[in-house]
Parts: sequence; C-alpha cells; structure tokens
Amino acid sequence: MKPTLNIVILAAGKGTRMHSNKPKVLHEIGGKPILAHVIDCAKALNPQQIIVVYGYGGEIVREAFAHENLVWVNQAEQLGTGHAVQQAAPHLNDDANTLIMLGDVPLVDVDACKKLIAQANQQLAILSFNKTDPTGYGRIVRNNHLVTAIVEHKDATDAQRQITEVNTGIMAMPNMHLKKWLSRLSNHNAQGEYYLTDIVALAVKDNVDVIAEMTADEWSVTGINSKVDLSQIERVYQQRVAQSLLQQGVTLTDPSRLDVRGTLHCGKDVEIDVNCVFEGNVTLADNVKIAANCVIKNTDIAAGTQIAAFTHMDDTIIGENSRIGPYARLRPSTTLAANTHVGNFVELKNAQVDIGSKINHLSYVGDSTVGKSVNIGAGTITCNYDGANKFRTVIEDGAFIGSDSQLVAPVTIGKNATIAAGSTITKDAPADALTFCRAKEQKTIVGWKRPVKLKKPD
Ligand code: UD1
Ligand code: CA
Repeated sequence: MKPTLNIVILAAGKGTRMHSNKPKVLHEIGGKPILAHVIDCAKALNPQQIIVVYGYGGEIVREAFAHENLVWVNQAEQLGTGHAVQQAAPHLNDDANTLIMLGDVPLVDVDACKKLIAQANQQLAILSFNKTDPTGYGRIVRNNHLVTAIVEHKDATDAQRQITEVNTGIMAMPNMHLKKWLSRLSNHNAQGEYYLTDIVALAVKDNVDVIAEMTADEWSVTGINSKVDLSQIERVYQQRVAQSLLQQGVTLTDPSRLDVRGTLHCGKDVEIDVNCVFEGNVTLADNVKIAANCVIKNTDIAAGTQIAAFTHMDDTIIGENSRIGPYARLRPSTTLAANTHVGNFVELKNAQVDIGSKINHLSYVGDSTVGKSVNIGAGTITCNYDGANKFRTVIEDGAFIGSDSQLVAPVTIGKNATIAAGSTITKDAPADALTFCRAKEQKTIVGWKRPVKLKKPD
C-alpha cells in the first residue's frame, strides 16, 4: 500500500522584484494564477491534504482559492524556507510522506513529482538540476550516489560554488523524520534564516539516506521572481500548449503567435491563423477555421463554422457551418444556430438567432430573439434600452428588416413581415405585410445651388 501523501506548498514570499501590489503567486501564466498551476499539479498527485504556507498578501491569496480544499498556514514573518515548513508541521500526518513544492514554480511536472514521492519512503529525495550559472542556488554536495549536504550560495566555499548541480527546492521525505529535523533547524548562517536545506545534513547525522534526482527540464523547476521571469515562462507555457495542439492535429499557421489563457478543445481539421487569443473554456469542433486576430472567450463553435479576422466573442454558442466576421463582436449570452451569417461591424448581445438568419453589416442586435431565415439589413439597430430598463425585440421567422431601421423594444416583427428601409418601428409589425415609417414623399428642388465658400477679407 502506498503511504499517505501530504503536500506543503511554500508561498509566503513577498515577490519584491515583481514591483507589484499584487501578491506574486496571483500573477498569471496562461490566464491562471501561478499558484493555481502548482495546486493543480499537487491535486494530480492525490494527496491526503495540501497545506499552503502563505504570508504576504495573505487574505487576497486565500480568497482567490476559496473554492479549493486547502489547509492554509500563515507564516507572519518570512524567516526562511525551514521556518515556513515548521509552520506547517502541526498539520502533518505522522505516518505520511510529505512533498514540498514551491508556490512560484508554475510549470512543475507531475511525473517528476511522482518519481520523487516514490523514492521518499525511507529516505530524503531531492529534485535537482544542472545549472550552467548556478549563482544564488543551493549546491548539491555529493559523495557518489548519496547527497551529503545542500550548501546555500552565500554560505558556500569557492570550491562548492563550482558545483553546478543545484537544489530545485522540491523534495520529499517521511514525516516521521521531517518533524524531528524541523525542530533541530537553526539560523546560524550567512542569511540568518532557517534553511529547509539544512535537513540534508541532519538526515546524514541520523543515518537516513539522501538522494537527488536530476531533471533535464529546467523550465519545470524555474521559479518566477520578476516580470522578466513571468514573461519568459508565459512564452514557454504557450509554446507547450501550441505543441500539444499541433500533436493533436490542429493546424496553427504560426505556433509562436497563439495565446491560450484557459482550455482550448479542438476537433479534427481545425485551423487557427496567427495572433488569436483564447480565454476561459473554448471548444472548436471539426473543421472550424479561425482567421487572424480573433479574441475568443468561453465559447463553443460547432463543426464547419468559419470565424473571419478580428472577431471578438465572449460567452457565446455558435452552430454549425456559420460565417462570423470579419470585425464582428459577439457579447455574452449570444447563441447563433446553424448556417447563420454575422458580418462586419455587427454587435450582438444576449441575442438568440435561429437557423439560417443573416445579420451581415453594421448592426446592433441586443436582447433579441431572431427566428429562422431572417434577413437583417445593414445599419439595423434594436433600441433595447430606454435609459433605465432593457426590453426585448422579437423578430419572427422569415422577416426582412430593411437597412437603417430602428426597432424600438419591446416590439415584435411578425412572421415573414417586411420592414421598409429607414423605418423607426415603435409598434408591433404584423406578419406577412410591409410596414414602414418614414417621410412618404421624396422631393426634388430643381435648380437648387450648393453653397460656395465665402472669400476671406484681405
Ligand atoms: C531556495 C533554496 C535553494 C534553492 C532555491 C531554488 C533554501 C534555504 N534554499 O533558495 O537551495 O536552490 O530555493 O529556487 O531553501 N518561502 C516562504 N517563506 C520563507 C522563505 C521562502 O514561504 O520564509 C517560499 C518562497 O515564497 C518561495 C520558496 O519558499 O516560493 C523559495 O524561497 P526563496 O526565497 O526563493 O529561496 P531561495 O533563497 O532562492
Ligand atoms: Ca528563489
């Protein structure tokens, strides 16, 4: 039987170098807080409990994760990584093993953690990596297979500073040992901090083996300390998302010009052109094509639909074989059924549009129910707002709305009704009839002269 697992995530650091009022771990990678990436990795390891040591920005950090099942431990003063784990010690189960993770390492790898945990039953297992410039890191001091110490950069001798194998900060060990070691830490070192890394020397004293597993994936152990780090990790994250989409068979015109800030599910033969941003949960079914420069958030797009360039969609559902854009803006609670067309400079908000309807140019359709095979001409406006309240417009199947019409809600346009161009409709328009509301006669003034520019006095 596998022993119980506890996970401690260290997230009390202030993140001074971010130069931000926001706690470091709430800055985002791929649209998700740094700490959320770490928590997701932790959850994938099926621990008995996840303990987060927090400090700076305390309550804001806790609130951001109120929906997660976490044990929060406050480290009021940041006296070192060892001190941070000491704060979690009262919560640790005696018969469990603990994995220590860092709250600012978002690309942490589930498999590497699993391997480490598997080796931590009788011994202390450390995740290390080889750093060409190891300045600032704790050095792994070895005696062949076994590790004898981790020496922090500031405490290291010149010879130790030559060591390029460094501590990632991620480690696993039995709690039975960890609790004893924590109680024996001191802060007699160059930084006056309680170093978690000193547990290595304590393990050696207690005849407990210490091993280090080297990872080749440096990004998976890289912490974020500055906006420079944040931007680099963001690019790495996006490259990985793009690679995974390519491997699933998605066509990306340029994998370096795609941003996924959430989850993007793609069917077969999906094509995505450059500079598209996907946010929240987006699903693109088979044969969907997205042209350049679209921003698509929390939207489901059914098979065969094409989204032309510069289209924005937020919280919408689009049916099959539809054509949207270019330059369309679909706002929340909009649903389009199959075979619909929405063209340039059309804004839809809370509009439900049925099969085969077309809104091709320069229109605003809000708080509206649009039936099947409706044609809405250029420049049509649903006047849904009287300055205080919003009202609905209903346009029934087969209606034709002439260009430059205003439909003042609440109003219903009946089945197969025709509205003449340039009408301002304030009353329901009956089915199967032509309704118009505009100056009846067209006048011409023969011989009328255009004004001429006045001569300026000298
Ligand atoms: C630590 C390690 C070092 C390792 C490096 C990897 C120690 C003593 N040193 O160094 O061996 O190479 O990480 O990046 O452990 N934290 C707290 N409370 C504190 C101090 C830190 O929660 O009092 C958290 C931070 O938020 C951060 C993590 O612990 O997530 C690491 O802290 P940091 O100050 O970056 O450690 P380093 O001194 O860089
Ligand atoms: Ca660090």
